[in-house]
Amino acid sequence: MKSIVITGGAGFIGNHVVRLFVNKYPDYHIICLDALTYAGNLANLSDVEDKPNYEFVKMDICDFEGVHHLLKDRQVEGIIHLAAESHVDRSIRDPFAFAQTNVMGTLSLLQAAKLYWESLPERYEGKRFYHISTDEVYGALELTRPDGEAPYGDDFFLETTKYNPHSPYSASKASSDHFVRAFHDTYGMPTIVTNCSNNYGPYQFPEKLIPLFINNIRHRKPLPVYGKGENVRDWLYVEDHARAIDLIYHKGKTAETYNIGGFNEWKNIDIIKVVIATVDRLLGRPEGADLDLITYVTDRAGHDLRYAIDSTKLKTELGWEPSLQFEEGIEKTVRWYLEHEEWMDNITSGEYEKYYDSMYKNR
Ligand code: NAD
Ligand code: DAU
Repeated sequence: MKSIVITGGAGFIGNHVVRLFVNKYPDYHIICLDALTYAGNLANLSDVEDKPNYEFVKMDICDFEGVHHLLKDRQVEGIIHLAAESHVDRSIRDPFAFAQTNVMGTLSLLQAAKLYWESLPERYEGKRFYHISTDEVYGALELTRPDGEAPYGDDFFLETTKYNPHSPYSASKASSDHFVRAFHDTYGMPTIVTNCSNNYGPYQFPEKLIPLFINNIRHRKPLPVYGKGENVRDWLYVEDHARAIDLIYHKGKTAETYNIGGFNEWKNIDIIKVVIATVDRLLGRPEGADLDLITYVTDRAGHDLRYAIDSTKLKTELGWEPSLQFEEGIEKTVRWYLEHEEWMDNITSGEYEKYYDSMYKNR
């Protein structure tokens, strides 16, 4: 049985990747390694927890000895690395946690894999270290068609775009990307890096724009729009990202970088209006009933204006394309959150509620 470790598997994107691999590959032993931080939730994986090819290990990726022992003990051949601190606003408040997990944690994982794989007679043959990164490492693009239809400019992030991260989060992800590539260039580790745009879909932690706003609309709470709501993001349904990860893990070329994106740019304020309209319709509220919840607040510090990914390379070389139109994806997403109130309420009560209030009281 091929053993694969998926780090951060109890988080938003990770649970979709774990579910896909566990269900699609009964011959693989899938190990979800997760420290269960505030963002990790085993309820996200309740439908696979009894599968014979699934194992959960609670571990911090910074625990070098623990990770090394696990890789050796389970004879791990592949690592898909998603574990990270992932929220930009938190990184502005507490950058240390981002350097610790995203940089030192990734280095610890790389070094543990190196030590184990280099101890084997076949060394790196048949092995793979796949690092999941973000489009934010490339920096920000301009709005050259600010009033036009999307896309909002002619330029896009390519795999060759120079790194220019602005937030502590993206700086930490950029640093981890460099370490991964350095392990290929220095030791010959078979690595792959992908940089993806904004994901949306079920099981996303409700500090991120779409689930936060769906929940606030449900409870008729204010919707804090940063600045003028004119920042642009490129949105991809999370299961399409998971499909891309599966494809790239199996067919991607070692040492390559692939961009993953939806060719689906939206200004924040426009996407927010779509979310309001969808929630209101599904809850049977009159059209436009909750538009007055929109509340413009102080902008995010260093707020990147526009992200837009060009994923042509992935399409041309491996044949991947997003499968869902945005209208379909957002409808599925809103429905999911409205039908999983208990999942949402378990997260948003107690400690998290206090955190959220403290985060927003000064805005
Ligand atoms: P998330 O915050 O929802 O989940 C992160 C997971 O990692 C959680 O389960 C958490 O418990 C775990 N984790 C955190 N620190 C850990 C540690 N030290 N040791 C072990 N586990 C730890 O994040 P997400 O949105 O699912 O993002 C997953 C990955 O994808 C991240 O690397 C992120 O940078 C990248 N990414 C995210 C997006 C997006 O839109 N969400 C887009 C592109 C790339
Ligand atoms: O681009 C990929 C990245 O997308 C990932 O690497 C990150 O892990 C992920 O969090 C996401 O980063 P963003 O900062 O783009 O996502 P967020 O959901 O936090 O914000 C989306 C946009 O909405 C952004 O322009 C900020 C704005 N926003 C966000 C929140 C939470 C608001 O206007 N109000 C809010 O309350």
